[in-house]
Amino acid sequence: MSQTRHVPVMLQRCLDLLAPALEASEPQHPVVVDCTLGLGGHSEALLSAFPSARLIALDRDKEALRLSGERLAPYGDRATLVHAVYDELPEVLARLGVPKVQGVLFDLGVSSMQLDEADRGFAYAQDAPLDMRMDQTTGVSAAEVLNTYPPGELVRILRAYGEEKQAKRIVSAIVREREKEPFSNSARLVELIRDALPQAAKRTGGNPAKRTFQALRIEVNGELAVLERAIPAAVRSLAVGGRIAVLSYHSLEDRLVKQVFAAGAATTAPPGLPVVPERYQPRLKLLTRGAELPTEEEVAENRRAAPARLRGAERIREDER
Ligand SMILES: C[S@@+](CC[C@H](N)C(=O)[O-])C[C@H]1O[C@@H](n2cnc3c(N)ncnc32)[C@H](O)[C@@H]1O
Repeated sequence: MSQTRHVPVMLQRCLDLLAPALEASEPQHPVVVDCTLGLGGHSEALLSAFPSARLIALDRDKEALRLSGERLAPYGDRATLVHAVYDELPEVLARLGVPKVQGVLFDLGVSSMQLDEADRGFAYAQDAPLDMRMDQTTGVSAAEVLNTYPPGELVRILRAYGEEKQAKRIVSAIVREREKEPFSNSARLVELIRDALPQAAKRTGGNPAKRTFQALRIEVNGELAVLERAIPAAVRSLAVGGRIAVLSYHSLEDRLVKQVFAAGAATTAPPGLPVVPERYQPRLKLLTRGAELPTEEEVAENRRAAPARLRGAERIREDER
């Protein structure tokens, strides 16, 4: 694994966004949650930049927890690593006896470790079993999705999660092929997509299998459904003055984050009230203007940063009881 691939994305900006919440004089030991520990790049930087903070870090991938556990061992009990899907955050915090937190970070998507390990089946560049589960102890694999879903459902997934314009064409080819022999490995799928696409479609935007692989990964891991529950739950877990930063890697994720933040930053008052009562006031203040992008220099050094979109918000009011 090359070092350059593991540079945490938009790291300094994430730290700057969270800093006011983690450097305040109260509480003495602020809690920051990294919902996507991965290889622990952001987590380690948080522990080192905010020496009084305690870190709770989640990942659904046991291998990520093992590797990061070694990396973060020097920080002792300042770091608590938990095997969990991030929409389980409220239960995790309750179990740890932490009612509210001062910071939350999400760095969505797959880790470079998951992409590097050919046998996990995330990468279209290497032949591997079509698995793609981030947590290999549960759920259905990409091969099962391909071999068993009705064609209409596959078309919907490729369109919605992969923004694949040629979804129908690809799915017709998949259905024809799976009747001959079920899919088990990625190379056969990559080849099928290449053959199914018209010449013009092959010339645009990198490997023609990229969009189908993204779509399958999102489906296999239920990524959008989980995120839709997780972002509001994370916002609710923030103490007043607490801050959240989210790094997304495709438009569907970013749109979801944008909607949750925008809803929190809007008043919920019925239109026409001369004075907006406290209970209708916004819960959130937006910390980023739209989504922030990585600099050209960062993208030149770390290609994984290219699609990143960063949004931040601060909790400014309790929920109405
Ligand atoms: C892009 S990586 C994080 C990289 C990390 N920030 C670093 O600097 O090393 C995303 C991680 O989030 C995990 N992940 C993705 N979806 C998750 C979910 N719903 N619940 C928990 N972990 C998830 C993946 O297993 C992966 O390890």
